[in-house]
Amino acid sequence: MITTIITDDIASYAAQLIGEQLRAKPKSVLGLATGSTPISVYDRLIEMVQCDTLSFKNVVTFNLDEYHPIQAEDPQSYMSFMREHLFDHIDIDKMNIHIPNGMVPAEDVADFAIQYEKAIGDAGGIDLQVLGIGSNGHIAFNEPPSEFDSRTRYVSLTDQTIADNARFFERREDVPIHAITMGIGTILAARRILMLATGPTKAMAIKNAIEGSVSTACPASALQLHRAVTVVIDANAAALLMPVTAVLEADETNLGIQDEHHIWW
Ligand code: GLP
Repeated sequence: MITTIITDDIASYAAQLIGEQLRAKPKSVLGLATGSTPISVYDRLIEMVQCDTLSFKNVVTFNLDEYHPIQAEDPQSYMSFMREHLFDHIDIDKMNIHIPNGMVPAEDVADFAIQYEKAIGDAGGIDLQVLGIGSNGHIAFNEPPSEFDSRTRYVSLTDQTIADNARFFERREDVPIHAITMGIGTILAARRILMLATGPTKAMAIKNAIEGSVSTACPASALQLHRAVTVVIDANAAALLMPVTAVLEADETNLGIQDEHHIWW
């Protein structure tokens, strides 16, 4: 089931949801995402930790993905991103942080991927997975047409993703063209999923993810198969969604719209 929340303040909503998870289960296993979208959520979580209303002391984290090859210390690595935007400012035990190793030699990536999956399993599985979405509907670095049962692996990035991510680099040629990513199957195994999106460039991807057919052409559409997904988006990202009345009408006339899809404005 997908519950869609449309709000001007995705940071407050998402941080509150994550906070509720950590308070209910202090040893939660969190799946974390990079990208510009979750930054405001991480800011809010940092504030909560600094005000002593939240603790990551016993939390275990697994990040979705990392560029390959890239040094952890490289300012463009997702490790650097996570340190800058979250880990360096909260009370997390550094031993509990897991991010795919961007320097694993190519011939060892398959073994590394198996170990990453095993580490998630050994930690008890992911309780709450935070996700962004690419403008082409990718989740983590699962580009179309990634299989829904895919697991952690080495992938090539599409031209669209390279172009989208070029804004973080000095030159487009500097954007890595490969990555190690959790698979869609890995993501779907999380007990709960929180997907975030803002801005008009995400509107079509969000429409395809929530209302489109379930298809590898839109990796995020796999979320329709999960029983506990909350999508938190702003009005721009929601711009192409059907109004709630249309959803209800479609349900009544049995036009194939999933009846468990709720929208809250
Ligand atoms: C990258 C990440 C994704 C993220 C996407 C969107 O491709 N691998 O996990 O969802 O960027 O990023 P942004 O939030 O900057 O739009």
